[in-house]
Amino acid sequence: MQTLSILKPDSVAKSNIGAIISRFESNGLSIAAMKMLHMDEAQAGEFYAIHRERSFFNDLIHFMTSGPVVVMVLEGDNAVEKNRALMGATDPKKAEVGTIRADFADNIDANAVHGSDSEENAKIEINFFFSKNEIVNAA
Ligand code: CMP
Repeated sequence: MQTLSILKPDSVAKSNIGAIISRFESNGLSIAAMKMLHMDEAQAGEFYAIHRERSFFNDLIHFMTSGPVVVMVLEGDNAVEKNRALMGATDPKKAEVGTIRADFADNIDANAVHGSDSEENAKIEINFFFSKNEIVNAA
């Protein structure tokens, strides 16, 4: 199974890319695709279109376009749920000890990582950033 992970601008700015990727690799998630990019407002708005009506939408887009991100396809058994467990709660104040957000995130906007919330959304989000020939067989 595959899921999409984004290391957000705070993770890149704080040089936490390697430490966070280590969490994935040491917990049975392999990298099947990876790239670094700096989203513009249109791209971030399209990616987060589902949140367009939410009060936090403008802050979210502002933050996600504030610097480069690393986007990855993670592959492994139960990848969607495993990644969500490794990330912890969206709000780092509520994230369990030892999770990525508890250890690396500052607040609910600068919350270190994004991960797909379902297998269906994982497919949509992977297609958003990657073409088929950019994804290797990591299993
Ligand atoms: P992410 O998993 O990237 O999906 C949407 C993002 O919106 C979320 O992580 C948070 O960084 C951000 N956000 C800000 N405020 C909220 C909120 N109240 N509820 C959910 N997400 C929020």
